[in-house]
Amino acid sequence: MTTEKTILRALAGETLPTPPIWMMRQAGRYLPEYKATRAEAGDFLSLCYNPELAAEVTLQPIRRFGFDAAILFADILLLPQALGMDLWFETGEGPRLSTITKADDLSVLKPVDEIHETLNPVYETVGILSEELPKETTLIGFAGAPWTVATYMIAGRGTPDQGPAHKLKAKDRATFEAVIDLLTEGTIAYLSRQIEAGAEVVKIFDSWAGSLQGDDFKSYSLEPTRKITEAIKAKHPGVPVIAFPRGAGEGYVGTHSATGADCIALDDGVTAEWAAANLQTGGCVQGNLASYHMVSGGDELVSETKRICEAFSQGPHIFNLGHGITPDADPKNVAIMIETVRNS
Ligand code: CP3
Repeated sequence: MTTEKTILRALAGETLPTPPIWMMRQAGRYLPEYKATRAEAGDFLSLCYNPELAAEVTLQPIRRFGFDAAILFADILLLPQALGMDLWFETGEGPRLSTITKADDLSVLKPVDEIHETLNPVYETVGILSEELPKETTLIGFAGAPWTVATYMIAGRGTPDQGPAHKLKAKDRATFEAVIDLLTEGTIAYLSRQIEAGAEVVKIFDSWAGSLQGDDFKSYSLEPTRKITEAIKAKHPGVPVIAFPRGAGEGYVGTHSATGADCIALDDGVTAEWAAANLQTGGCVQGNLASYHMVSGGDELVSETKRICEAFSQGPHIFNLGHGITPDADPKNVAIMIETVRNS
């Protein structure tokens, strides 16, 4: 492959001497420059819908650290908002949405072809980024997986155990499946437009996949991701897909073929050694340093970073955290992690 973009080479299956690196939530509250731009925007959602400022915060960690990929600054909950649900963020607490708990509530949802009216600023952000990013930096677009987004739409907020979504699935499967199907269609349309605007890779975040057991994991995590991946690849051949069935545990085995994704992102609940033997044999993997090392630092940060690089060194690997970096992280630890990956 002739591209300078190391992320695209790893996604195409190449084993590189040094893994490319980026970080989930790399634009975020651990960076003073992010906090300044967010204050300028007013609040989080105003930042997401302001193309100039959303592009600015996306570029900040690239300028500061030289990551190999930039991830579009937006949120997985913009899609339910575009579908007609109310969305707001309670300071210090997290997202709040109107809820879907019965068949009647589906009537507030708009047809998929109307989502772009709300989401156009996001595509504009992608357009700005594809002009402004350094030529070696890959631009990643993203969306939430249907199950994860549905858990917020059903509960109206984040929940520790996704109880309300499990309850709707148990009591009124038709309504639950209507939500999953609508989100599957909406996600295909949303990601396609991100690609048309300039996204080179897309990532599907199934942050709550780990609470689905057995057949439910297959039907509501793997299968919607497979449908989205298949549709994206039919419309945009050659655009790689990263799937993140977070918390899947042993369920990670076989997820490249079950989803059709080019790369599987790993949380820190499985060891790199286990994943190298049981998952990386199927394709590229991304991960999986525990986020707390960005807070705690020290020798353990260096030794764990080296261990993960070593464990995945025999196959395609993109270095990342197991989940997003937290607001209490020290940017100095990020720099140490990058230096360790690039020099080990
Ligand atoms: O990774 C990136 O830098 C790109 C931008 C991005 C954000 N959210 C920005 C954000 C991405 C890819 C997401 C995905 C997202 N959003 C997920 C899936 C990944 C995951 O973390 O498991 C989920 C579940 C959400 C929903 C969401 N957004 C929650 C639950 C919260 C509140 C919790 C928190 O961290 O405050 C958000 C807010 C949010 N999304 C922030 C950022 C930078 C913090 C908002 C702020 O500035 O106050």
